[in-house]
Amino acid sequence: MDNKLTILQEKMAQAVVGGGEERIAKQHKKGKLTARERLKFLLDEGSFEEIGAFVTHRSYDFGMENQRFYGDGVVTGYGTISGRLVYVFAQDFTVFGGSLSETHAEKICKIMDLAMKNGAPVIGLNDSGGARIQEGVVSLGGYADIFYRNTLASGVIPQISAVMGPCAGGAVYSPAITDFTLMVENTSYMFVTGPNVVKTVTNEEVTAEELGGASAHSVKSGVTHFTAANDLECIEQIKKLLSYIPQNCEDDAPMLPYEMGDETRAELLDIIPENANTPYDMREVIAGVTDKESFFEVHKDYAENIVVGFARIAGRSVGIVANQPYYLAGVLDVNSSKKGARFVRFCDCFNIPLLVLVDVPGFLPGTDQEWNAIITNGAKLLYAFSEATVPRVTVITRKAYGGAYDVMNSKHIGADMNYAWPSAEIAVMGAKGAAEIIFRRDIKAADDPTAKLAEKEAEYAEKFAHPYRAARRGFVDEIINPKDTRTKLIKAFKMLENKVDKLPKKKHGNLPL
Ligand code: HXC
Repeated sequence: MDNKLTILQEKMAQAVVGGGEERIAKQHKKGKLTARERLKFLLDEGSFEEIGAFVTHRSYDFGMENQRFYGDGVVTGYGTISGRLVYVFAQDFTVFGGSLSETHAEKICKIMDLAMKNGAPVIGLNDSGGARIQEGVVSLGGYADIFYRNTLASGVIPQISAVMGPCAGGAVYSPAITDFTLMVENTSYMFVTGPNVVKTVTNEEVTAEELGGASAHSVKSGVTHFTAANDLECIEQIKKLLSYIPQNCEDDAPMLPYEMGDETRAELLDIIPENANTPYDMREVIAGVTDKESFFEVHKDYAENIVVGFARIAGRSVGIVANQPYYLAGVLDVNSSKKGARFVRFCDCFNIPLLVLVDVPGFLPGTDQEWNAIITNGAKLLYAFSEATVPRVTVITRKAYGGAYDVMNSKHIGADMNYAWPSAEIAVMGAKGAAEIIFRRDIKAADDPTAKLAEKEAEYAEKFAHPYRAARRGFVDEIINPKDTRTKLIKAFKMLENKVDKLPKKKHGNLPL
């Protein structure tokens, strides 16, 4: 037996070094951790249980039979993060560049299947040269097996993809289907076709970093939700993200202990500027209504006219969707609608209540927006809110104009509690624009058109630029003193914690994609 145990130990030692010390040193030189190091930092100490450490590929082409490495370029298994079960795979770039073979894919599929059956998140740490070139179609089949499982698991268990090295070609579609993608600055990139192909086809000269680096995808495309300066920061972000979300669609998010104190927040009184057109930072409102330093922003650098993220209110995890007057006056456009919709869908999948903070002047006009389908994309946000059955609370802080009023979790589309601050203006449009249209003739005929416009603007503002008409109809449940907002929200979310709401029976809806 001793001899057999020695053999086992030797084999395990071989598995642990992956592609060997030289390649590990190369990985470190690039500023990257190895797959095993990443898992060590990600999981609770001593909790990792590896599955399939001795798997090798089945290829005999191109001399591959002489190059077999235990694990075949991916470390898979399960462990815990803050005591909660997670399934993990970490691609090992030191073995064939982390490229995906038939067996590499099988290992990933195995842990995905376990995660589905046992209702726990899957975290994938991607670092791969793509399809194992020596294997051809079986590798492509392996990818498709993963994509299929990603799709079936969507909405059942949370799926998180960290891109910590190359992720190119069709390989990008697994992260794209999962719920959240994180990228590491300067060492990771994602693209369907790389710089060489781009140059050949379009004659554009672009570096890998420019084309598909963390910055490109966090600011321009919105493909990644988070970026990190290095592997360790990325891993910390994954852990933080998990702390807000449940294990599966039938579970509730972890609730932190919270001791009630004086929950009034006088600082909320000073946020709205005197002039309705002066911007302010909606993050100040978020900070004033949520538990101290609990806000964890998602998609921070993309479509900044809407702010989304997780926070806690009296220990309870909530998803926040908020117009941002600080950026483009908080207008809704194509990108902000898509960003908001995706986040609302995630929260609704995983029983996370929604808090919506509204200060929106409407939809952004222009050919660019119309030709890029603001109609279809705006509808995504409208549809996502309408379909959400989680507790939904809205606070209108200032403007709620036009169609954007309807879209931003209005009473009419199923919100449970709708509050407005006294500074709220709920109308079809701003007073000046409205006066110019409906009093056009009076203004034209007046001796002093400017004075007439001002008079009519004031008349319209008095009639509509406030929340009382909406409150009279019950579209707003209560007009509240801003300093009491946090107290109201704590009570409202507590009141709604056992909410049960069902959609009409259907196979699935037809979200305007
Ligand atoms: C097999 C691969 C590989 C691959 C890299 N390697 N990619 N082996 N299949 N796809 C191996 C290399 O031979 C090398 O082996 C080791 O991994 C490290 O690679 P290097 O090139 O030395 O590393 P680096 O300079 O950092 O460059 C990384 C890289 C480059 C940019 C990823 O390796 C590369 O361009 N690889 C090919 C990428 C690609 O075209 N993949 C197919 C995409 S199409 P040694 O033994 O020297 O250590 C695709 C389709 C998926 O993925 C479709 C799904 C639907």
